[in-house]
Amino acid sequence: MYGMVNKAVQDLITRQHGEDVWQRIRGLAGVEEDMFISNEPYPDELTYRLVGAAAEVLAVPATEVLRTFGRWWILHTAMEGYGHLMKAGGRTLPEFLINLPNFHTRIVLMFPHLRPPEFECMDVTAGSLRLHYHSHRRGLAPFVTGLLEGLGEIYRTPVTVKHEQSLDAGAEHDVFLVRWEESAA
Ligand code: HEM
Repeated sequence: MYGMVNKAVQDLITRQHGEDVWQRIRGLAGVEEDMFISNEPYPDELTYRLVGAAAEVLAVPATEVLRTFGRWWILHTAMEGYGHLMKAGGRTLPEFLINLPNFHTRIVLMFPHLRPPEFECMDVTAGSLRLHYHSHRRGLAPFVTGLLEGLGEIYRTPVTVKHEQSLDAGAEHDVFLVRWEESAA
């Protein structure tokens, strides 16, 4: 994945837990890089090692690290670095979600080697939809949950996210039921 992902993990750990904890996590993950170049691709495996080491050092499940990272990605990485793109995604949470399947096509223009996720919105109602998620990678569903919760926060629209079908549990792909308060959206 592009360096900006690893850099965001580093920012999250450093800002929430301090430089010493980051250095311990980096050491445990066997990562030699002291900084990451945002627009350079790195092996996915490096990111997975960082997440695994963070789970161990912080004594929380890796799924929790990924979920926290998803919220961080939206609230900090995306909003601070790409606010214009996020704004263009929609005026409300449901609008953003409906546009989500096309979101990374604009990102590919900046990061040509991107291997983006694929999303599909189904069963859309005034207060919910089912988000279908396809990826080349495994194990990132909790990251998606965190991303959706982060989107709820930036749109000030409380959301609940239910992971209805899981690839890891044998489903064909992951499906999330996303619900929001109609009045807030
Ligand atoms: C401006 C905001 C965003 C930028 C710059 C961005 C960029 C990226 C980058 C660089 C990757 C790593 C993939 C690679 O390097 O091959 C990635 C992965 C991913 N992005 Fe985004 N993204 C943004 C917003 C979003 C949003 C809003 C969502 C969904 C709510 C999302 C969902 C994901 C997921 C799930 C992955 C993991 C890759 C996978 O599933 O295989 N991203 N994105």
